[in-house]
Amino acid sequence: MNSLIPDVHLLGCEGLSKQTITTILSLAQFYRNKSDEGERFQLLNGMTVANLFFEPSTRTRTSFEIAAQRLGAQVVNFSSQGSSTSKGETVTDTAKNIEAMDPSILVIRHSSSGIPHLLAKCVKIPILNAGDGFHEHPSQALLDLLTIQQSKTNVQGKKILIVGDIAHSRVARSNIYALNTMGAQVTVCGPPTLIPPFPEKLGVQVEIQLEKALPTADVIMMLRIQFERQSAMQIPSKGEYAKFWGLNERTIRNIKEDAIIMHPGPLNRGVEISPAVADGPYSVILNQVKNGVAVRMALINLYSRAPLPQEWFEAEKRSSHV
Ligand code: CP
Repeated sequence: MNSLIPDVHLLGCEGLSKQTITTILSLAQFYRNKSDEGERFQLLNGMTVANLFFEPSTRTRTSFEIAAQRLGAQVVNFSSQGSSTSKGETVTDTAKNIEAMDPSILVIRHSSSGIPHLLAKCVKIPILNAGDGFHEHPSQALLDLLTIQQSKTNVQGKKILIVGDIAHSRVARSNIYALNTMGAQVTVCGPPTLIPPFPEKLGVQVEIQLEKALPTADVIMMLRIQFERQSAMQIPSKGEYAKFWGLNERTIRNIKEDAIIMHPGPLNRGVEISPAVADGPYSVILNQVKNGVAVRMALINLYSRAPLPQEWFEAEKRSSHV
């Protein structure tokens, strides 16, 4: 059993301590190195991870599943499509019924903000939030921090530019919380209609003109426009959005030589990012995806309270993180 994480659930990055984030990233880097060497683990032997996805996903669901398997756990995948949700079963009843089958941990994605918090009051097992509405997507932010750390050695003091639909983005919100905790300087950029009200309360700077914001950024994080979360079209057209806030070969001309370009996916190629930039030399997008498995291995391991890898634990003790 391990007790390195003070919270029972991972509901968001808001309120996560620097120590907790550092521990998660350290274990995730260990798992990234070991996965690259092809090593697999049996630390969750006999345990089951339940993936409850009430909203579509490619990267998050697959990587939670692969992460669980690499730790030796069994995985059960629940998708609302084809389930008794269509017969009127509530999300809380669904979660309680899945819990009755004795999984060790629940991973949940839902289109409504706050559902993981609601479920945390109804079930006794740990919950990992895999994205709730436009509230938070903590595992995405943590894999983004790991990716930044790998490219820039550390996050502290780095200038992070987040571009796009900030108002509807759970990725932006989780990143802002985690990046601020780790001492980065965050600027958000996008059409005024897609900047949340009172951005100063989030601890970020705002720049509306992309070309002004790009030259000083160490990290450029592009976001998809969340059309599914907008009540009315909040940009004039996709073409105009691409012209003023899209990243392409013209707009990246003045970025730093060692800048990295990130995107959580899925990409709208030709809207917020051109194919040449998404697949170009500054892009670390597929490394983010690879890190997604490692971060989710760390989260499942730590929050399920399963035994930790001895080699990592001993190294952590020596470097006095624990
Ligand atoms: N980044 C992300 O959450 O992607 P999916 O929606 O495919 O899981």
